[in-house]
Amino acid sequence: MAKIYKNIVILTGAGISAESGLATFRSENGLWNKHRVEDVATIEAYWKNPDYVHDFYNQMRPELFNAKPNAAHLAITKLQEKYNSNINVITQNVDTLHEKAGNKNVWHIHGQINQIVCMNCGHVFETWGDVSSEDSCPHCGISAMLKPNIVFFGENLLYMDKVDELLQTCNLFISVGTSGVVYPAAGFVQVAKFYGADTIEVNLEETSNNYLFGRHIYGKAGKALPDLVNELLEQKEEA
Ligand code: OAD
Repeated sequence: MAKIYKNIVILTGAGISAESGLATFRSENGLWNKHRVEDVATIEAYWKNPDYVHDFYNQMRPELFNAKPNAAHLAITKLQEKYNSNINVITQNVDTLHEKAGNKNVWHIHGQINQIVCMNCGHVFETWGDVSSEDSCPHCGISAMLKPNIVFFGENLLYMDKVDELLQTCNLFISVGTSGVVYPAAGFVQVAKFYGADTIEVNLEETSNNYLFGRHIYGKAGKALPDLVNELLEQKEEA
């Protein structure tokens, strides 16, 4: 029987941006095979050697600035425009391809490459330019305290109150292009399922938390997600 979902959550990971030419983290050419997490993505690394960490993200910024959304991001826009329900995107990605595609209600739980946070006063501001440890905060004026607004290992995720509310109220939880190894995001499916949501995973291959999902769609997100969106829209028309 065709179902109508009043609240939909789409969790995305690096795989949704792969067809936009951005490297995932754990693939053969992935970022974590070229760099040590401990050197560039932990809060300890930032305090020990902030300029090394700034350089890493300074180098990443132009590529992410130039990246274009792909068919998977655009499928989410279509769903949000046509399905007429409450659809939120929880993303682990620090790129801004969801926004570039016109997605609404996007929650960057791991932060954003184009934001900087002051570790002294908490002020967050946007830039696509380079940042160094000598720069000072435009709000409090203190220098050497600016950090990419990216959640490093050892820090709390962003927007977790909102995320909890979304997971507890969604009727459909779709996970796209994430390996399911980084918690707490990898556990979101369990929460959504516990509160009664249907669960669908879209991925190239079996993931480590694959057994938690009710349905699996194997394939590239750029094809699989538009197909799923069309299926949901057809079901809604039939209902
Ligand atoms: P991973 O690199 O761990 O996983 C990417 C997933 O995408 C894999 O399961 C691939 O099979 C899948 N994939 C690749 N190309 C795809 C495609 N075209 N279509 C569909 N799926 C595809 O990336 P994440 O799961 O996002 O955290 O990693 C989670 C977190 O680990 C990241 O947010 C980052 C990292 O450490 C921080 O930086 C805080």
